[in-house]
Amino acid sequence: MEIIEVRGGRTLAGSIAPPAAKNSVLPLLAATLLCGEPCRLRGVPRLTDVDTSLALLGAVGAKAARWGRDILTSPVPLLCGDIPPRLAGAMRSSVFYFAPLLVRVGQVRMPMPGGCRLGPRPVDIHLDGLAAMGAQIEFAADAVVLRRAGRLHGADFTLRLPSVGATETLLMAAACAQGTTVLRGAACEPEVEDLAAFLNACGARITGAGTPVVVIHGRAGGLDGCTFTPVPDRIAAATYAAAVASAGGDVTIRRCRPGHFATFLDFLRAAGCQVNAGPGAVRVCRDPHAPLKGGQEVFAAAWPGFATDTAPLAAAVLLTADAPSRVYDGLFQNRFACAAGFAALGAQVQANGRELRIGGGARLAGTVVTAPDLRGGAALVVAALAARGKTCVLDEGHIRRGYQALPDELAGLGAACRMA
Ligand code: EPU
Repeated sequence: MEIIEVRGGRTLAGSIAPPAAKNSVLPLLAATLLCGEPCRLRGVPRLTDVDTSLALLGAVGAKAARWGRDILTSPVPLLCGDIPPRLAGAMRSSVFYFAPLLVRVGQVRMPMPGGCRLGPRPVDIHLDGLAAMGAQIEFAADAVVLRRAGRLHGADFTLRLPSVGATETLLMAAACAQGTTVLRGAACEPEVEDLAAFLNACGARITGAGTPVVVIHGRAGGLDGCTFTPVPDRIAAATYAAAVASAGGDVTIRRCRPGHFATFLDFLRAAGCQVNAGPGAVRVCRDPHAPLKGGQEVFAAAWPGFATDTAPLAAAVLLTADAPSRVYDGLFQNRFACAAGFAALGAQVQANGRELRIGGGARLAGTVVTAPDLRGGAALVVAALAARGKTCVLDEGHIRRGYQALPDELAGLGAACRMA
């Protein structure tokens, strides 16, 4: 158990840059399995999900290792398609290994993937898309087994909803399939575009990534390698912005893509923060003596909507606002498990499935709370910055899955926040 200790009431100042996006790096690491030449991913943060990915790559026989701030991979002739249950269960992103191992090995045995308990997280779209490309799928008692008889082939496949992970699975499979694949109803998130950019840099032929219709001309001979810098983490950037909104202060978020979290910045403006976005940087200011504006209706949806991962952060900001608000998550059924922690801090909140109602006007006071998941845990840290006295956020390792050193980063901006 880790404990993040926060003493609220200090304003934040200075500047900070987000690392490479976790949700880009994780599929990129899996995609390196498709490459017949070495790859170098630049500036990869030290997250536990990245460590799990490196362990998973090692377990299937691949070569991938840290080299300073980068990760280097080199191709190996033989891989194994059996994912150890401990690694599959440690993160949702084990699903990214379906496609590359099916392409490379011809058979994959994947115990059911783990990850944050945000509600049911089926993998039917990943599997349906792979089946349309020629995979045979069987469900064993404790695992799903995928096989292919010949090569995977191109397909015209419509996703029943724009799943980020399934779009990424199918990009990887189609990049090395025989013939052309058309994906319709694809997810358009920046991390999907980033994966397509990486695959194209390795010789794939993908057009339309970042739009709902993606066309992939398969390169049956396999891919080359490349050196690639993943996109900056828009959720980490939004977390820093939320921290300034909660604590008050004046912080510049450098080396980020403001357009990638524009919905969150618009939300902060509506809540009464001053936000100035320029090329590659955003300045967020909030007068700690002026109350934040409530009366907000936030609705999280797929890109370009309000990002689901930032919904708990928005809720944390609104706890002390001057009027009631409502945050609704259209993607996950259990996004607001952090509500218990908000209530313990003294907020008036009511979680009802996908919806969180916030009374507003709370005077938060420090106490002991528990991080229920990654973003909910970060939201509790953000809320604690506005609480009187000491808050201890107990965390079973959720937060370090997505933030390399959140307490140190906030302390660098002047917060009284540390790993106890
Ligand atoms: N879904 C299905 N069937 C599928 C796949 C998804 O029903 O085969 C449903 C899910 O249950 C969910 C919805 O579709 O209700 C959206 O899920 P999606 O597949 O888009 O999400 P994901 O790929 O599992 C990624 C991020 C999440 C982020 C979501 C939405 C990674 C590693 N994870 O998950 O990030 O919330 O997209 O943007 O890319 C996080 O970083 O904390 C995190 C949870």
